[in-house]
Amino acid sequence: MLHLHLTAIIVSLILFIAVFAMYKKNNSSDNKPALILHMVLRVFYLLVLFSGIMIYVGNMEGISAAGSHMQYGIKALLGILSVVFMEVAVVRLKKHSASANVLLVVTLILIIAAVIMGSTLPLGMLSF
Ligand code: HEM
Repeated sequence: MLHLHLTAIIVSLILFIAVFAMYKKNNSSDNKPALILHMVLRVFYLLVLFSGIMIYVGNMEGISAAGSHMQYGIKALLGILSVVFMEVAVVRLKKHSASANVLLVVTLILIIAAVIMGSTLPLGMLSF
């Protein structure tokens, strides 16, 4: 499940950057390639959420035993917020809102925090 989580995150990040850049160039509703890629991105959001929740639920006993409830709770929250902010940033850009750039920065900060926290928690690749 961790492999699915990581793969879905990497694909989502690439798609998010591509969709954001495409709407930045042309954010009219007839930008069909961006619209289709945005749909694909939404499927990958679901995969990120599903795999994250499955890791969380599947390791509940170990998490309790290690006493790391709080860190896992914060990690899951950062993950969910990252997905929400990615979607909101793209939609704001589509609706010609000036706040899209601010949202992009907030989104990137949330993603960096989620990646650092996920990698350093017990199941992560940077955990020793
Ligand atoms: C864009 C959003 C997200 C990003 C960037 C992200 C990033 C990561 C990364 C990099 C890892 C470490 C994977 C590894 O080293 O093999 C990880 C693990 C994990 N993620 Fe996410 N994640 C996101 C969303 C979520 C969501 C929505 C949830 C749950 C609701 C979640 C729950 C977890 C859990 C429980 C782990 C295992 C933590 C550990 O012990 O290492 N993640 N995540």
